[in-house]
Amino acid sequence: MTIGKNAPPLLIFTGVRAIDPNCGLDGEIDLVIEAGVITRVGKGAATSELLRAEGARIFSGNHLWVTPAFVDLHAHLREPGQEYKEDILSGLRAAAHGGFAHVCVMPNTRPVNDTRAVTEAMVERARSLEGPALHPIGAITVGQKGSELTEMADLKEAGAVGVSDDGRCVTSSAVMRRALEYARTFDLTVIQHAEDHALTEGAQMHEGAISTRLGLRGWPRVAEDIIVARDVLLAEATGARYHVAHVSTLGSVRIIREAKSRGIAVTAEVTPHHLTLTDASLIGYDTACKVNPPLREQADVDALRAALADGTIDAIATDHAPHSSLEKDCELAEASPGMIGLELVVPLLFGMAKNGELPLARLVDALTARPSKIAGLEAPALREGKRAEICVIDTTRSITINRANIRSKSLNTPFLNQTFTGTCVLTMAAGKIVFDQNLPQ
Ligand code: NCD
Ligand code: ZN
Repeated sequence: MTIGKNAPPLLIFTGVRAIDPNCGLDGEIDLVIEAGVITRVGKGAATSELLRAEGARIFSGNHLWVTPAFVDLHAHLREPGQEYKEDILSGLRAAAHGGFAHVCVMPNTRPVNDTRAVTEAMVERARSLEGPALHPIGAITVGQKGSELTEMADLKEAGAVGVSDDGRCVTSSAVMRRALEYARTFDLTVIQHAEDHALTEGAQMHEGAISTRLGLRGWPRVAEDIIVARDVLLAEATGARYHVAHVSTLGSVRIIREAKSRGIAVTAEVTPHHLTLTDASLIGYDTACKVNPPLREQADVDALRAALADGTIDAIATDHAPHSSLEKDCELAEASPGMIGLELVVPLLFGMAKNGELPLARLVDALTARPSKIAGLEAPALREGKRAEICVIDTTRSITINRANIRSKSLNTPFLNQTFTGTCVLTMAAGKIVFDQNLPQ
């Protein structure tokens, strides 16, 4: 049982729109992939001889957008320990369906990924599936308990591409300082889930007019901003690489922008849902909209979009957080936070880019080259000589978000039963086809 299938000997794209800002590409061109390797890119690359070749599979038309395959910095695949929500197989299938060739997975599994053994087990399992590549993120502290640092050298050697206590914040300034110093010696990026837990106890949603109206305890913006501000100072003092997970507030954006302008090694990511939804979605007490950090206000959404556009926010990360009906079909206060995301990036965000609401070049960069750099991975690119790692989007094909179309085991998304135009129809990772709309999955 594998996800990846060998590509046909010849795959030809003619007159498609190819977008790869890091190769200076956005135009109607041809692309040829031979035995899983990109061999020709450019106008006229698909010669009549190639097009006549026996066994060639041909895609044509500028309604097809071809981009480098995506790289997710933040997903929860739940294996080991909570396979009823998702496992590595279903998670990587969802990733492939979403256009991803690389997925960095958070350590809040059961047990927590705080050791070489867990990291290695994840990598092995994923490798055997020949699908999108899985890159573990190790814990910062043992058991994500916030006090004792993990053996980061071991984690890195076993394949970890960063460290994070995601789901929990490293609250102690002393521990965070030591974590940054320690991670720096191994050239690992420290990824923070920025939440001052003392300020968010019992919170169900963003603190604002709507939480007051609904009578729900709120999660104030400042609980995120305080941690980001402190961490930026610690990053400056230690010279370590610091990355903010799922930025949600206009205040954090301001702090990150200022830190970058002073040359501090800080990077940041934003989720598709924080770019598209506000706390107004909670008015019906929909548990699918309960997420950590919470959905904020329109002013935050506007600030996040502007920060993504100008590069202050480097990357788009899904924070794919599958939960079953056990954790979601209940009262809001009892529900676990999180929503699925891997399969929603193209439907949600490329539609916005098509309408001019997001700059397309930045969107592609934020899903490919920038996250690759942050995780220390070689970026997928539409370049001759590279093993094919591509995402093909059919901008005219629609997708309804439901059980029949979603590969993830969980369906916790407020976009359930909605139909979007524009969906991924082919994904290649490491030269193999990992998702193909025309083949039964
Ligand atoms: C995440 C989860 O379910 O693991 N939930 C969430 O709402 N984002 C944890 C996290 O990233 O905070
Ligand atoms: Zn988190």
